[in-house]
Amino acid sequence: MKCGCVLHLLSVLTFSCLVIQAKVYTRCQLTRELLKNSFPRTFLSNWVCLIEQESDRNTSAYVVKTPRRKYYGLFQIGSEWCKEGRKGGKCDISCEALLDEDIKNDSTCAMKIFEQEGFKYWSKWEARCKGQLLPDIEKCPDFQIPPARPSPPRDKRMLRGKRHAKTFRKFKKNLHSYRIQK
Ligand SMILES: *[C@@H]1O[C@H](CO)[C@@H](O)[C@H](O)[C@H]1NC(C)=O
Ligand SMILES: *[C@@H]1O[C@H](CO)[C@@H](O)[C@H](O)[C@H]1NC(C)=O
Repeated sequence: MKCGCVLHLLSVLTFSCLVIQAKVYTRCQLTRELLKNSFPRTFLSNWVCLIEQESDRNTSAYVVKTPRRKYYGLFQIGSEWCKEGRKGGKCDISCEALLDEDIKNDSTCAMKIFEQEGFKYWSKWEARCKGQLLPDIEKCPDFQIPPARPSPPRDKRMLRGKRHAKTFRKFKKNLHSYRIQK
């Protein structure tokens, strides 16, 4: 009996782990994930705004408007782009793949939607992002480009080196004469 309970508890736990795969990103984590998935930097704050408005950065966001209009995941991709239970739809993916923590498939599909319909596919982007103050992602470490440090031209560096050598020689000479004087 005791053993059965433990087994039952284990299976419940396992099931919960399988179901609760939701990941809610912070703004900077999201920025990093989008960059990792090759979103260009140019429109990145628009994508971050869109995702914040559509899903609250929740990879498992799932909204049923009508039985035929369901929206999946971080980008709230509509059911015409995927198929439930198997690959299909305009993105040729399963809708379930849009609800897990892996946002690779989501990203590919969102880019495709963007190419075909632009940001206006997402009504919340249109209502709350377009022409408005966008999320500030400039301070996210992954967004900042490593500061460019142009190295001085070679001949200039050599000149400086020579000058240092000269100064040092002069210094040594002075030191020498200083000693002699003493
Ligand atoms: C993420 O979305 C799922 C599905 O809509 C929901 O059950 C879960 O509570 C959400 N998580 C957070 C932290 O809002
Ligand atoms: C996710 O995308 C990869 C490559 O684009 C594909 O091979 C894989 O089958 C997709 N996964 C699902 C569940 O659709």
